[in-house]
Amino acid sequence: MDKDWWKENAEGVPHLVTDLPGPKSQAMHARTTKYMHGLSGQVQLFPVCFDEGYGVTLTDVDGNKYLDFSSGIYVTSLGHCHPKISEAISYWAKRLMNAHDFTTPVKEKLMEKMAEVLPGKLNAIQLYSDGTAAVEAGLRAARAITGKHEFISCFRDFHGKTMGAVSCAQMVRGDVLSYGPTRAPGFYMVPRPNPYRPTFAKPDGTIDTDRYIEFYEEFIREATVGNIAAFVLEPVQGWGGSIFPPDDFFPKLRAFCDKNGILLMDDEVLAGMGRTGDWLTMSHWNVVPDIVTFGKSFGNGFPVTAMVVKEEYADALDKISASSSYGGNPMACAAALASIEVIEEENLLENSTRVGEYFVKRMNEMKENHPIIGDVKGKGMLLGLELVKDRVTKEPFEEAGKLVYQKAFRKGLAWIPAGHILRMSPPIIMDEKYAEIGLQIIEESITEVEKEFGY
Ligand SMILES: Cc1ncc(COP(=O)(O)O)c(C=O)c1O
Repeated sequence: MDKDWWKENAEGVPHLVTDLPGPKSQAMHARTTKYMHGLSGQVQLFPVCFDEGYGVTLTDVDGNKYLDFSSGIYVTSLGHCHPKISEAISYWAKRLMNAHDFTTPVKEKLMEKMAEVLPGKLNAIQLYSDGTAAVEAGLRAARAITGKHEFISCFRDFHGKTMGAVSCAQMVRGDVLSYGPTRAPGFYMVPRPNPYRPTFAKPDGTIDTDRYIEFYEEFIREATVGNIAAFVLEPVQGWGGSIFPPDDFFPKLRAFCDKNGILLMDDEVLAGMGRTGDWLTMSHWNVVPDIVTFGKSFGNGFPVTAMVVKEEYADALDKISASSSYGGNPMACAAALASIEVIEEENLLENSTRVGEYFVKRMNEMKENHPIIGDVKGKGMLLGLELVKDRVTKEPFEEAGKLVYQKAFRKGLAWIPAGHILRMSPPIIMDEKYAEIGLQIIEESITEVEKEFGY
């Protein structure tokens, strides 16, 4: 496959033919929301109706063409409708759609490919059909491996919306899950290091990773019965705003887990499979987790996810059945296998790293000219710009975040808001030319918002 397959379609993007959202989008959205409720903030802030996606572009029902800085929602990382992946899915859509958890030829190939690309003998695998189900399986695996029942997770991480996954995350006020006794017993949360906003800092103001680890020791001693199965966390906070830990965190957390007989469970549903420039984001810090979950980019849009444990724990997986109605069906395996092959064939780990560096360099230049940019975040193509009212107080600038999101969308950039942190997850096939086009739209929007707020 020619790695430039998406470029002809992208020429001239964004290309707008109506004001946004256009009249057809608005009418279709109004008819849909007569029945469909509870949409994300992203959709509520910009109610557009998409009709097509190809490579790095999206087209709405009015014929407006947008540059994609979202990949769906961190999902279509290899571009919309990658021809190889669409072809692989449609082959099995016409041949065998479901065979429960029986072996199929494409499943055999996927298992071998995953074992080949994942580091550290992470090769005992189960397949599911959404990220949350993979996380739940990871929690079950941790209990099956250790015979212990408690879990530690981190403030502001996200793991999904079922009871186990939500018990590892923040209870959102007003969310139905926050009514009544919500967090399942035995689930505890602790802060994780955010270098821009440290809970524990050294006298010079820089983050004190050792103090976090000491706090975890103390917390386990004082607040739990000391029966911790796993420490569960995202390698990078995705929904939390593209927050990267300091470089010494994961090596120190790994040592802490080993010392205390706790498994390290790494939820890579959002960050894994190429987005940050590696198969496994924790590899950036040379750390191998005991349990890992993949989703989103794993099938590039087809609902397929995985829960993987180290070979030495493989036997424990027999205690937790991998049977699921849709998990690992032939179309799903074909999508995941083709996605991994595309990453290899098109050198997309290298592309994500190189273009990600370009993003970070350009965003740091933008920071010099824009007082409301407090911090720049990024590794590979998992990126963020943190907006603050004042660089000294670091007060989050929520209103500016929403406005910049809407203005940039109106200029033809499809992307993801998260309050005051502008998150970006462009398809990792993108090159510097389109990165620059999108960044200029964002910079223009920031300039307009700064003017409106009197900066
Ligand atoms: C880190 C992480 N884990 C789990 C999930 C849940 O995945 P899904 O929405 O596919 O159930 C998400 C979704 O955003 C996520 O970001």
